[in-house]
Amino acid sequence: MRCLVVADLHYSLPQFDWVVNNAARFDLVIIAGDHLDLSSLVDGRAQTVVIGKYMELLRERTHVLLCSGNHDLDWRDEAGEKVSRWVSRCRHEHVSSDGDSLLIGNVLLSVCPWWDGPVARERVARQLEADAALRRGPWFWVHHAPPDHAATSWTGTRDAGDPVLSEWIARYSPDVVFSGHIHQSPFVKGGSWVDRIGATWVFNVGQHSGAPPAHIMFDTDHRAAFWMSSAGAQAISFDEDLVHPLPRLQRPPDWVIAEPHSL
Ligand SMILES: [Fe+2]
Repeated sequence: MRCLVVADLHYSLPQFDWVVNNAARFDLVIIAGDHLDLSSLVDGRAQTVVIGKYMELLRERTHVLLCSGNHDLDWRDEAGEKVSRWVSRCRHEHVSSDGDSLLIGNVLLSVCPWWDGPVARERVARQLEADAALRRGPWFWVHHAPPDHAATSWTGTRDAGDPVLSEWIARYSPDVVFSGHIHQSPFVKGGSWVDRIGATWVFNVGQHSGAPPAHIMFDTDHRAAFWMSSAGAQAISFDEDLVHPLPRLQRPPDWVIAEPHSL
């Protein structure tokens, strides 16, 4: 399975265009939260309509997986906690959304919503508990905020990761967690787009302006991941030790250049 992972596109339409134009090369496109931009002059509801149209374009090309981020909350649930109703409404045969679990080959994917209070947090806890019982092979989570105590949550001056997610990772040891949220982590000294917490590989795509967006290509057959951004390119292999800082690549690895296998 080959995935494209982006996050924090924040209503950057050139970045969404780039994702649409490249989606057909991948078995799965993961957009790990913060699709909207709260500081934009464009009305929030208008943004949800536009991004909803992008999801329609994407689902014609491949399967899409999107979770909500803290910029995506447009509704209050029965408990009065903020949730993203519009992200849930993007759900489709080819679009997995908040709270879904998805099996591609033997890889189980859990799509975690942004939680804004104890009730929504408990929903995520129950979701992961239920998905743990379905686990037969690799288990990947998509969760907008990254865990704490990792290079992927370093802002340059402090750790801004999510300690609750770290507790869940300690309990279940998923194979991979994809996040965004802390835009600068991959670009600052001491930060990175990739780290390990025990047996779990954790990723934070990072965010910069302009297209293409910072992105990760991830291939389960090659057991490798490749990160590309305005700051250059890096890659890791799941079969090699992770040593920071990672070297900058002069050219993408062969598996990135080669045409991907289909499922
Ligand atoms: Fe963001």
